[in-house]
Amino acid sequence: MECSKLIETAMQARENAYAPYSKFKVGAALLAKNGKVYLGCNIENASYSATVCAERTAFFKAVSEGVKEFEAIAIVGGKEGELSTSCAPCGVCRQVMAEFCDEDFKVVLGTPQKYDVYALEQILPLAFSKTNLR
Ligand code: THU
Repeated sequence: MECSKLIETAMQARENAYAPYSKFKVGAALLAKNGKVYLGCNIENASYSATVCAERTAFFKAVSEGVKEFEAIAIVGGKEGELSTSCAPCGVCRQVMAEFCDEDFKVVLGTPQKYDVYALEQILPLAFSKTNLR
């Protein structure tokens, strides 16, 4: 799937964001190696700490359905009514990516017209991983 299409899909996912506290809405589209795309949005909570990011929503939907191999994720976000030109994933979401993805997993940030593609190893160097536990 083309990166621009994956970003458009993330923009659709963002429409379901539940962000009454921060008013910062995020959408993610996670492309699995089997070709399926899992959508995620951020889901906030009055307790704040129970909030979950868009990226993790997408990963946990896929993994909970038995899918654990991934190619790429597109992420878009911004304040309600706006869309930032680049919405980088938080550290916790990068760590979740590292659990399931190879170093060359692609993280796509930007707009359908202008985007950048990062390899996971670029944005999470020296990750703690399951190999540390051997
Ligand atoms: N958020 C995400 O959904 N993904 C990220 O990688 C960074 C932050 C959400 C969490 C919260 O609902 C809002 O953005 C403001 O932090």
